[in-house]
Amino acid sequence: MTYLVLVPDNLEQSGLELLRQTEGLEVYAPGKMTREDTLQQIPAAHALIVRSDTKVNQELLDAAPHLKVVVRAGVGVDNIDLAACTARRIVVMNAPDGNTISTAEHTFALMLALARHIPRADASMRAGRWDRKQFTGMQLWGKALGIIGFGRVGRAVAERGRAFGMEDIAYDPFVPDRVARHLGLELVPRLDDVLVKADIISLHALVTDETRGMINAESIERMKDGVLIVNAARGALINSADLAAALKSGKIGGAALDVYDVEPPAAGNPLIGLDNVVHTPHLGASTNEAQEAVALQAAEEVVRALLDNKFDNVRNREVFDLL
Ligand code: MLT
Repeated sequence: MTYLVLVPDNLEQSGLELLRQTEGLEVYAPGKMTREDTLQQIPAAHALIVRSDTKVNQELLDAAPHLKVVVRAGVGVDNIDLAACTARRIVVMNAPDGNTISTAEHTFALMLALARHIPRADASMRAGRWDRKQFTGMQLWGKALGIIGFGRVGRAVAERGRAFGMEDIAYDPFVPDRVARHLGLELVPRLDDVLVKADIISLHALVTDETRGMINAESIERMKDGVLIVNAARGALINSADLAAALKSGKIGGAALDVYDVEPPAAGNPLIGLDNVVHTPHLGASTNEAQEAVALQAAEEVVRALLDNKFDNVRNREVFDLL
């Protein structure tokens, strides 16, 4: 039997080559597909590899009678309806390893850009000015770096924080203390410990019912005056209106944002264009190295699932109760 793998988002060659070289698989990957094309091709597909653009929802699943696996080339599965996939006995996997370093490096790029006013200084020189005083910044050395979420990226950020001479304060209720001790630091027991002590707060948590909107008026009130916030995780962790109000009042000194509650940001997003905000359009994992690594891991997972019935990095484990 030949299985069809459908790839409706752009995927690096490393992954496509592996799929094309594997006997027993046929690949349909013409580049970024429209929703209409995807709906037309999905009826024949046994596996689907997506990035964040393709929404794997009931509409798509209803058109996919043969679909066995969905693989997210990347970490976040917020574009995939996990419950609907489980109900259809479709295994959902992600490819969480290849993005880590790129996302941690981007977090630091954002942090430095914010602390040293790099985007505004660049814009000012391009406009023919030579303003120095206006762009006096803040050193990272000696500052307390609050890390919320101590998974792969949070840990890589903590390591880099240490290299910059920062004091890491990390919080994650799901990570055992020994993991942090192994990296030479103690996790703090309460979120509040990060909020009240950090000079810079960097978000690395998943979006769950507990974490959605965790940066809001109430938590901001607990923070130091002038704190900086960096978010290269998910926009939904922040209440945008509350953050915008705190940026305008100066309670929060600045924010560097790679992610937004709606992407691309909806018209009227109160954070866009504020002077003390640095923006990038969800570029954390956008390096050649990361894209090649996640594409390869996603392809390997499809091959193992379809041909060997082996499943790695499953995001809906409850599906195995039904298989
Ligand atoms: C991820 O979840 O892997 C990252 O946010 C990057 C992406 O969405 O492509």
